[in-house]
Amino acid sequence: MTPLAEDLAALIASEGPIPVDRYMALALGHPRHGYYMTRDPFGAAGDFVTAPEISQVFGELMGVWAASAWEAMGRPDRVQLVEIGPGRGTLMADLLRMAKALPAFAAALDVHLVETSPVLAERQRQVLGDAATWHRGLDEVPPGPTLLIANEFLDALPIRQFVRADAGWRERLVGMRDGAFAFGLSRDPVPPGLLPDALREASPGTLVEICPAFASLAAALAARGAPLAALFIDYGHATSRGGETLQAVKAHRPVDPLAEPGDADLTAHVDFAAFAAAARSAGLSAGPVVTQRDLLFGLGLAERAERLAAARPEAFETLRAGVERLVDPAPTGMGSLFKAIALASDRDVLARLPLVD
Ligand SMILES: C[S@@+](CC[C@H](N)C(=O)[O-])C[C@H]1O[C@@H](n2cnc3c(N)ncnc32)[C@H](O)[C@@H]1O
Repeated sequence: MTPLAEDLAALIASEGPIPVDRYMALALGHPRHGYYMTRDPFGAAGDFVTAPEISQVFGELMGVWAASAWEAMGRPDRVQLVEIGPGRGTLMADLLRMAKALPAFAAALDVHLVETSPVLAERQRQVLGDAATWHRGLDEVPPGPTLLIANEFLDALPIRQFVRADAGWRERLVGMRDGAFAFGLSRDPVPPGLLPDALREASPGTLVEICPAFASLAAALAARGAPLAALFIDYGHATSRGGETLQAVKAHRPVDPLAEPGDADLTAHVDFAAFAAAARSAGLSAGPVVTQRDLLFGLGLAERAERLAAARPEAFETLRAGVERLVDPAPTGMGSLFKAIALASDRDVLARLPLVD
């Protein structure tokens, strides 16, 4: 058993089976044994690879988005540029390099990184030095006009799972069976208000996931006031639907989500429609959901890649492979599985953001 598994087993022995969101929150964020608290999981020797680690073009195009968003909000003298879940700091480093091409924009930036992992915050400090300020929560970021970017952050937010059993909707719980973690169902029915309207009448056997943290994140964004523009990129679906997406990954392979809590990454696909609804309920404006392929081409991927290739012909093959992977249109390719949504404090700012019609 992993050290975290021992803690979880003791918790379940004393309190009974726990909901999936509590299991996920502890597996990822337990202060001593949580997955993100203890390691740098990126790269070939780690567990997974993210877009900024695949190609510098990704972070550079986030710089293009941020500069356009700054223009959209009327070029404020000072703006808080915030990244939530910055990983190794690669996206921000590439973004800031791109920003130098627009000196007035670069000069307006106060950079803030929101990170809960001490290991990754240290890694980000090595990359960014004194170019940024670190925080453990969005509420710690000083007020002011805000540009916010988060890549592969929403998928780490804990989800609850509900199953339409013969007797009605029940919550999926994690308990113990024969010395191992196992899924079971709550005895009590799920209050109907927790289920998405579109899925309440789903057929028996259907599993539905909701992410309660969307509402608190949206409220925290709205509390920052205007102007605000935010871009979230992640894997997921544009419309709400049933089906299990909870997944664990270790050393680039899928593993049983209950097998090694704290030692495998645990994520769920993002329900972008639910996230947009949470944003609107909090008073924000939400743009359309676009694929990563459309986002990157819309921000000038082809032109940027051409320039880089001309400047470093010897790196052409690596550049081409990275870019192709980012925009791969196959159903499970990054260009199509990954999607983006822009949020803004109001309709005026939203309408002027890139890729919002
Ligand atoms: C999958 S990684 C993505 C990293 C980076 N954005 C990238 O694209 O390479 C998730 C990041 O979110 C951070 N994280 C997870 N939960 C968090 C939370 N509740 N608040 C802030 N950061 C969190 C992790 O430590 C990690 O930096």
